[in-house]
Amino acid sequence: MALSEDEKMPVPQHIAIIMDGNGRWAKNRGLPRTAGHKAGGETFRRIANYCREIGVKYLTVYAFSTENWKRSTEEIGGIMLLLERYLKEALRDMEKNGVCFRFFGDLSRLSPKLRKLCEDTEARSSQYHEVQVNFCLNYGGRDEIIRAARAFAADVAAGKRSADSLTELEFENYLDSAGVPDPELVIRPSGEQRTSNFLPWQSAYSEFVFMNVLWPDFMPEHLDEAIAEFYRRNRRFGGA
Ligand code: FPP
Repeated sequence: MALSEDEKMPVPQHIAIIMDGNGRWAKNRGLPRTAGHKAGGETFRRIANYCREIGVKYLTVYAFSTENWKRSTEEIGGIMLLLERYLKEALRDMEKNGVCFRFFGDLSRLSPKLRKLCEDTEARSSQYHEVQVNFCLNYGGRDEIIRAARAFAADVAAGKRSADSLTELEFENYLDSAGVPDPELVIRPSGEQRTSNFLPWQSAYSEFVFMNVLWPDFMPEHLDEAIAEFYRRNRRFGGA
């Protein structure tokens, strides 16, 4: 039975996730790392659907970092192929799912084919508002801030802005996340307790929940657990 709006549990409006642990999940099973990413892609589908169901408005996921280029050609190719397949599927099912997609990161290093898919998905999905999924692709937080600073400097050089009047609010318009509220909750599964250059500007006031589960094993119950922890902390600290 579907829950009414009043019966739904409270949820943060924006949740960000570092999808970590795919490699270890595969290794534990004697499988190639690409099998871990495939399973991680399935988990992403499950969690994105669940977020939509429970009323989360923004989901941001770390799909490929600027550091991930150091991995083997085979592994990189495997991840890119999974993304390509997922985006083709998203384009096909767009109307049914009502998901808006955005991409954070420097897309210029992606293959022209994947880049075009990202651009098409972003453009065609901008009319949907049930939930917004932000894919961080070739993303690094420091790189994002440098690109934003360059764009701002170019506007100053062109006489469109004055350097002295720059505020945090104005600078945010130059970030990949322009217009997206900051995540209240950042989750990192896999037992690692680092933020790894993920949304450093946007997560300045976020709650971090680190969990001892590998991403391919991450279930809706784990998301519930992280959300419950978020509200326990918020009650304790008054949400400040
Ligand atoms: C980190 O785990 C994960 C990545 C670098 C890739 C994440 C990509 C996906 C989940 C697939 C993307 C596809 C879709 C459809 C979203 P790791 O490899 O660093 O794991 P490890 O720390 O155990 O080695």
